[in-house]
Amino acid sequence: MCGIVGYIGHRKASDVIINGLKRLEYRGYDSAGIGLLNGELNVTKCKGKVVELEKRIINSDDTSTVGIGHTRWATHGEPNDVNAHPHWDGDQNFALVHNGIIENYDALKKELTTKGHIFLGQTDTEVLAHLIQEIQKVAKCDFVTAVQMALKQVDGTFGIAIVNKNEADSIIVARKGSPLLLGIGDDEIFIASDASPIIEYTNKVVYLDDDEMAIINRDGYQVKTISNIELSKEVHELEMSVEQIEKAGYPHFMLKEIHEQKETIADCMRGRLVVSENRIVLGGISEVLDRLVNARRLIIAACGTSWHAGLVGEYLFESLAKMPVEVEYASEFRYRDPLINSDDVMLVISQSGETADTLAAVREAKSKGALVLGICNVVGSTIARETDAGIYTHAGPEIGVASTKAFTAQVTVLSMMAILLGQRRGKLNDKYASELIQEMSRIPDKVEQILKQTEAMDEISRLFTYAPNFLYLGRSYNFPVALEGALKLKEISYIHAEGYPAAEMKHGPIALIDEHMPVVVVAVTDHTNEKMISNIEEVRARKGRIIAITNEENSDVQRLAEFAITIPSTLDPLSPLLTVIPLQILSYQIAVYRKCNVDQPRNLAKSVTVE
Ligand code: F6R
Repeated sequence: MCGIVGYIGHRKASDVIINGLKRLEYRGYDSAGIGLLNGELNVTKCKGKVVELEKRIINSDDTSTVGIGHTRWATHGEPNDVNAHPHWDGDQNFALVHNGIIENYDALKKELTTKGHIFLGQTDTEVLAHLIQEIQKVAKCDFVTAVQMALKQVDGTFGIAIVNKNEADSIIVARKGSPLLLGIGDDEIFIASDASPIIEYTNKVVYLDDDEMAIINRDGYQVKTISNIELSKEVHELEMSVEQIEKAGYPHFMLKEIHEQKETIADCMRGRLVVSENRIVLGGISEVLDRLVNARRLIIAACGTSWHAGLVGEYLFESLAKMPVEVEYASEFRYRDPLINSDDVMLVISQSGETADTLAAVREAKSKGALVLGICNVVGSTIARETDAGIYTHAGPEIGVASTKAFTAQVTVLSMMAILLGQRRGKLNDKYASELIQEMSRIPDKVEQILKQTEAMDEISRLFTYAPNFLYLGRSYNFPVALEGALKLKEISYIHAEGYPAAEMKHGPIALIDEHMPVVVVAVTDHTNEKMISNIEEVRARKGRIIAITNEENSDVQRLAEFAITIPSTLDPLSPLLTVIPLQILSYQIAVYRKCNVDQPRNLAKSVTVE
């Protein structure tokens, strides 16, 4: 959600920044801007994607080696040239880029207006720039102190970077709630919202924590708290590679990421699934495993696709480990004074590890004494660092805004956790545990078999490209998959789609079914098969167009469906790892036929760092 890039060193800053903003564009892409210091401070910004900004500066002879840039996902103020970042202070001495929300901006703006400040746009960020200016004028202090004082007056979240023409060759950055890291090169320093813009230059990073700032200049960087206490920060080494953040010949990141799932699921299990010993080893939670095993209940909190993975987790933990589970929307959790205490364990799931609502749920649960565990993809992310312990999904960077490989990796981790807990709680017999562990090791090859059908599915996708609505139905483990299928379709193709537990259809949605309604049923030969077949008959009786995701043995469903996408059979609890893949492919293909921007769907951002 908004991307920030900054650079100070010996390279042409605009090249580094534009390149970096393109890498961060998945975080927001409604407008972009750049501020370059070269004696003067030049700001260029415009509505639209980073490429529009690039066109404006491509012929400039600016040789600046210090600058900041921003790609925006609008919160306050429509996406236009004026509201794009960087924002000037009233005297045009400095320019500021911001990720996050200044919640008290309206009150501050009114106060500043009475003092003569004139605002050009509608953003909360511009208010922060003017506040710093006003404080420096009144307090007659140095610029860093003015920034610190201003940041103490704002409520909300921020990741900011500032360049000031009176403070040549330096950049000030600060964070509270919005990620920022420094990339440490040889005589150069990079600033970014995440590691993707800097990995081609350096793998050494310093993560800023909340309420911290850094003053960066040609001699190096100094990190301190916003209250001015100097800090010494650890330099981490990134494991990411440039290849991982490129398309590798695929037309879209989403397609690349769908096709990576054979490897990402295998990577996620590597060293953890010990088939020969019928054992699961989850090092990240080994120290807290006893507390987890003996927990009164498990509360899973997440948002969006990660929440759907959490719902699969509920079925897994209850069935395999006989552990009571509640699944919460992280965004709702803290607003209803949740009953949670030290007997409970909270498990949060987040691909980015930066989702604001999920992070808030972590803090709420910790404050009430619960053990908080995380399943995250991004190593070193805020949630990964703030949880008591956790398990990385190791799916590699996910760039497509629609989450695909992160979901299957999350479900892989949840499956391993549920088996391990089932064994440790004495609720899973050895034979079944061993069958599950062996079958998990076969999942990557089964995923590959499904991916080979991508072309065969094209015909179905083409046929339904212009359907205005879709219904997705599933039961048991595959009810969350139906929700996930519907979410994938609506977010990238803008087709209205709803997911339902199949039996709920009779309680309302059945009214929608006629000969124009595609109904995607996720129907494998599990313990709900008979009931699912009845639901399919009910749809058929109303002439709904049935697209079934079913398994090889399910001849009944194959016969009843107008279109059947057949996947390899597996054990019931593991079926979401396979059934979701045709749904990802279907939504991808439909979105491409509809000429939608698959990797950057409208209004969305990859990482939702505002509440
Ligand atoms: C959907 C999607 C979102 C995310 C949600 C949570 O394809 O990507 O629904 O799943 O914003 O994000 P994370 O997992 O980063 O917390």
